[in-house]
Amino acid sequence: MIIGSEIIFKENLPSTNTYASQILRNKNSKEGTIIYTNYQSAGRGYAGNGWESEDGKNLLFSILLFPTIVNPADQFVISMAISLGICDFLESYIPVCTVKWPNDIYVNNDKIAGILIENTIMGNLLEDSVAGIGLNVNQVKFMSDAPNPVSMKMITGTQYDLKDSLTKLASALDKRYKQVLSEKFIQLREEYTAKLFRLNEWAGFRDGTGVFTGRIISVSENGRLQVETKSGSSNEYSFKEIEFIL
Ligand code: BTN
Repeated sequence: MIIGSEIIFKENLPSTNTYASQILRNKNSKEGTIIYTNYQSAGRGYAGNGWESEDGKNLLFSILLFPTIVNPADQFVISMAISLGICDFLESYIPVCTVKWPNDIYVNNDKIAGILIENTIMGNLLEDSVAGIGLNVNQVKFMSDAPNPVSMKMITGTQYDLKDSLTKLASALDKRYKQVLSEKFIQLREEYTAKLFRLNEWAGFRDGTGVFTGRIISVSENGRLQVETKSGSSNEYSFKEIEFIL
């Protein structure tokens, strides 16, 4: 086992991703180390957003990875593997989980987990990666203005043991990360694409030109979203160039 081979617990932290980046400066850190906490006072989401999580209710952790075999151009494979690992874990409790591109984990129309991956690139090498995961487990009331949060407990009515959930999730993530290390990039992309929220469904999107109806047809090798329009043309988008209308 790589992911979860070492686990560091801190009762509270500003952000597990920030803490993980600090440990990375200590060159003795071990690949797969998980830093987890019960509470983050400054939890970070993507695009400068925060991450809401009630004390002791959810899984909040970051994983140290050294995916040096991955070319920086292929770095999206890390996102795909982490997203799939979370879905593999969730699907032992919940019938279907999808991935809202690029890496929001959804159950039906609601967001159950967020991922913040921070890569360090040195020349032509992906030197290290901090994969931060916030998974809503036992929280049932959300206060922030996030549009559609949901938790495992809200869906199943069950209270989960966080430590046990972390062990199981780490093992699911480890299996997927091993696919990265053995360069199963095509397989990962196929499985990731098959799990996409709104794959092949006509739905509303917004891009730089305004609102339009489109359908997701695939994801390119470098992680760009391919969307077909009603007129039959297709466009590729990088992160932040397209928004889903929910
Ligand atoms: C998102 O905006 O969807 C990404 C959220 C990522 C939140 C997790 S919680 C653990 C780790 N530490 C952070 O500060 N952020 C990530």
